[in-house]
Amino acid sequence: MQVALRAEQLVKTYGSGDSQVNAVDNVSVDLYQGELVALVGPSGSGKTTLLAMLAGLLRPTSGAIMIEDQDLTTMRERDRAAFRKLHIGFAFQANNLVPYLTALENVELMLRLSGQRTPAGRERARELLVRLGLEERIHGLPRQLSGGQQQRVAIARSLISQPTLVLADEPTASLDSERAFQVVQTFAQLVHEQNRAGILVTHDLRLVEYVDRVIQMLDGRIERILEAQEDLSCLANPERCGRIPMGTLGFSGDDCPCSEPEPAA
Ligand SMILES: Nc1ncnc2c1ncn2[C@@H]1O[C@H](COP(=O)(O)OP(=O)(O)OP(=O)(O)O)[C@@H](O)[C@H]1O
Ligand SMILES: [Mg+2]
Repeated sequence: MQVALRAEQLVKTYGSGDSQVNAVDNVSVDLYQGELVALVGPSGSGKTTLLAMLAGLLRPTSGAIMIEDQDLTTMRERDRAAFRKLHIGFAFQANNLVPYLTALENVELMLRLSGQRTPAGRERARELLVRLGLEERIHGLPRQLSGGQQQRVAIARSLISQPTLVLADEPTASLDSERAFQVVQTFAQLVHEQNRAGILVTHDLRLVEYVDRVIQMLDGRIERILEAQEDLSCLANPERCGRIPMGTLGFSGDDCPCSEPEPAA
């Protein structure tokens, strides 16, 4: 599998002296084309900070972020903005839709920004919205859409310009759980079909059913990475394993029994 993104020893420190916070503390990780990774961990563990750096929206204190053989962290601001338009899609907690553009126009705007506003591109925009269950609301303005519908428009927008990397920060937070499953399932399908590399931040461990790997953060660091199918399905369905994880915000080091080695015969 081809590496789509390589983060090397990323650090983000806020403040100084006694009030200094290491929001992201020496994180190195590779992300592959065609995979969707869930980023989980307790509130304040650094998920949004990490995502914002990978999106090129926040400059790290130190470290490197390699995408398409270029280091985001050393680019000039203008170059970084141009690079972002072409290679990185994101849907963040606050969805930032343009209030006076319809759902379809919001998605098409991204096409325009990345120089892809062709008839084929516009057809893709429409198809994407339909696939995300927004057929009836395509011409609705953001204020006429529910929070969950707006989040789905933001997801469509993150994917439309065919970026290398798609980053979504709790895109399902205002969806009911059935809709959240559908949206994440569709998001996963699109990432796989289109061979993007995706990161999904979520507090809902049931959604890890649809991802290929789970990265758990704690205090700004990567606590562990799970990729075995049985570990993911244990995490998504704790009752099936007979043990309950430590709440939905994260899981402690040894509460996933599937990860334990087989006892010696
Ligand atoms: N602009 C900022 N200035 C100072 N500290 C910040 C800033 N942004 C985040 N932090 C701190 O950095 C740490 C990581 O925050 P971050 O938002 O990345 O956490 P998170 O894992 O996304 O949490 P949540 O699950 O609640 O969204 C927290 O301790 C937070 O208080
Ligand atoms: Mg966050």
